[in-house]
Amino acid sequence: MSLTGEKMEEVFLKTPSLEGRITIGEGAAALRLPSLVKERKNFVVTDSNVFALYGEFLREYFGDGEVFVLPAGEENKNFQRLFEILKRMTEAGLHRTSRLFAVGGGVVGDIGGLAAALYMRGISCVQVPTTLLAQADSGVGGKTAVDLGGVKNVVGAFYQPCEVIVDPMFLSTLPPREIKCGLGELVKYAALDGGIFELLKANADKLSEREFLFSLILPSVKHKAKVVEEDEKETGERKSLNVGHTTGHALELASGLSHGESVLWGMLLETKLAMKYGVCAREYGEELTALVHRALDVPPVGKIDFSRVRSDAEKARADKKNAEGGGICMSVAAAKGKWALFSLPFEKYREELAEAAREAERERGGDANEKN
Ligand SMILES: NC(=O)c1ccc[n+]([C@@H]2O[C@H](COP(=O)([O-])OP(=O)(O)OC[C@H]3O[C@@H](n4cnc5c(N)ncnc54)[C@H](O)[C@@H]3O)[C@@H](O)[C@H]2O)c1
Repeated sequence: MSLTGEKMEEVFLKTPSLEGRITIGEGAAALRLPSLVKERKNFVVTDSNVFALYGEFLREYFGDGEVFVLPAGEENKNFQRLFEILKRMTEAGLHRTSRLFAVGGGVVGDIGGLAAALYMRGISCVQVPTTLLAQADSGVGGKTAVDLGGVKNVVGAFYQPCEVIVDPMFLSTLPPREIKCGLGELVKYAALDGGIFELLKANADKLSEREFLFSLILPSVKHKAKVVEEDEKETGERKSLNVGHTTGHALELASGLSHGESVLWGMLLETKLAMKYGVCAREYGEELTALVHRALDVPPVGKIDFSRVRSDAEKARADKKNAEGGGICMSVAAAKGKWALFSLPFEKYREELAEAAREAERERGGDANEKN
């Protein structure tokens, strides 16, 4: 399977702390890993699913280097596991010049990146993302974190990897649920980037074709790298990357849907709100919501129950982005390639969300979310 045709692509992401290289293409791991592991102590963080599938690969490139296998799942992105990783790094005798490789999905990337940021005040970190979501989004940009006290990503650091290796080889083993999860973030990039929007619109019948989805990784990574270069610490432009996420996170917590599918629902409902309040241009908003509906139709289609959407909305109150106005603050698509911050007082948000959910349910024919 070829990601970009034949070529290997390179994107550079320059921040005040360092210039990182992102290599994207079939064979990227084989191309970059040998020189990156040379003449230093290496430490790998991966998870149990990735280790079961790619244990041989890890042995090939890291030899008898230390491998920490995190039990798979978001519930392990916590302080206790972070402590275990740091303890093992200390026992392995890693020093300042050692390097940590995070080989896995967003969970491994986030906790592994944070361990690299903390150990000896920061050692070199290489991200090797193995899910569609992590390759298109979370592996790039240097946000690292663990969850604490039921709050996602509340303890973390901005810590840029020196390299990101995006190799589609890993995606061949991804289950459909994880492909759909990545699709959520790819549609987010379409909402932010006119070029990606046109690509998705023109290929809306290909949203379940892996090859097509993989071809969107490069433009998404380029878009994210540009945004992060402009605003590494999320004081302005980087907030755009939260499109769909305020409501998406609330629905994810309440419904147990995957992150990507929740973000799709979040984008659908928030775009409806933004259109109603004149923040999103109607014609564009309708095109975008049509695209989101197509993405929601990609199997597997999870079940969402909007009968409790008013109480689910409470969960949006804890969102980190709300600090600004006291109400619910959302990053929303405004026009092709344009976004805006949009706030509503909580009670209003809750009311409007319930109405948008009813409308979305009608559009999806009531039972549309039980197709699978
Ligand atoms: N740092 C950021 O900028 C950022 C951005 C978005 C999301 N995130 C975080 O990313 C996490 C979600 O990432 P995710 O969706 O990759 O989840 P994940 O890391 O839990 O991976 C999803 C599942 O896929 C499995 N898996 C990974 N690679 C595989 C492969 N090649 N083949 C088969 N199975 C594989 C994993 O074991 C896991 O069961 C969340 O914790 C979220 O907060 C971070």
